[in-house]
Amino acid sequence: MIGGNITSTGRLRLVVLGCGGFIGSHLLDRLLSRSDVIVDGWDPETRKIGQHLDNPRLRLHPATCEAVSEVPGLEAAIERADAVLNLAAICNPAEYNTRPLDVIHANFVDVFPIADLCAKHGRWLIHFSTCEVYGRTVGSYLGAGAYADPDLYELRENESPLIMGPTVNQRWTYACAKQLMERYIFAHHAEHGMPFTIVRPFNFFGPRMDFIPQVDGEGVPRVLACFMSALMTRQPMKLVDGGGARRTIVAIEEAIDAVERILERPGRSQGETFNIGNPDNEVTIAELARLMRDTYAEITGDETYRRHPIEEMPAAAFYGPGYEDCDRRMPDISKAESLLDWRPRTPLREILFSTMQDYHAQYRSAAHVC
Ligand code: UGA
Repeated sequence: MIGGNITSTGRLRLVVLGCGGFIGSHLLDRLLSRSDVIVDGWDPETRKIGQHLDNPRLRLHPATCEAVSEVPGLEAAIERADAVLNLAAICNPAEYNTRPLDVIHANFVDVFPIADLCAKHGRWLIHFSTCEVYGRTVGSYLGAGAYADPDLYELRENESPLIMGPTVNQRWTYACAKQLMERYIFAHHAEHGMPFTIVRPFNFFGPRMDFIPQVDGEGVPRVLACFMSALMTRQPMKLVDGGGARRTIVAIEEAIDAVERILERPGRSQGETFNIGNPDNEVTIAELARLMRDTYAEITGDETYRRHPIEEMPAAAFYGPGYEDCDRRMPDISKAESLLDWRPRTPLREILFSTMQDYHAQYRSAAHVC
């Protein structure tokens, strides 16, 4: 039974804030497949969770949590919950420098009252933070040879410094708000004994991530959807600042496994922060673009995609002023391995193939998409 030693009723009652987003929708798929879980979910957006709307074990509240004290039923739901999972956030880099106040509100101002309620009722808060709290690596400031030593780039939960650029680079509004939220949660734990777990996701990839511009959303999504949109509409893929930034990619399914293990092992996961990512799947963004071209050629059987145009452009032209990149995100996952017995194994090519196949099936009939 999931979470067997945190519930006396044999059923696990969870509050999930932001249950209608990419991660939330996959989490609901997993949680609601189990008969011992009841979810109080909050999200105004239900497009990605239509498959669960009739499930009697999901009570969905189509509200945002902007003014938490005014959200009917939220405090009562937290009070009766075994754990509260917070996924609500603005987590799209195109918005960090263009909607900085909204970003700070969504990632700190709107969230700290939830931690207050968890502390008041002694509830376990499982908060989704971000790998971006690490900011840039130490190595990125050292020039040539920057990555010679893993100590200069490997990111460790309880050791690595959190390094952000100057205030004028508003890219860091998000990372800074997320970092403050982590510190706020930790302070509640230290002063009031509030149980908590912090998850730092490292580029989860899978179906339903973000949106395709002009089809089911507006603006600039994250890189997976940007590149998919470019391929499907036969527009050039755009490489920001040459695509030298590096990311590690993990399959959403494996990331959800980690969350399930967190819930199953409160004795090991409470009071901890976990990097959740796949260190074996590191790519530069330029390599990712080329891999995605080849994968799309395989999926469609159209070999011309292997030569799909890739265009370089400066960050200021793509994101506007105030963007600055995280150079490299290499997670040390030894804590998740030892405490959760979790290690992701799906190779990048496999993740891309299944994810891109799903996008292709979902969107190919949309009018704007070839
Ligand atoms: C974002 C969020 O800020 C993180 O909180 C989150 O953890 C992470 O996504 C995630 O998906 O887990 P980031 O990886 O910087 O972080 O977001 P992307 O928009 O996916 O950008 C990745 C890289 O691709 C960046 O270097 C960006 O400049 C580049 N990019 C993006 C392109 O070169 N072309 C594009 O069309 C889009």
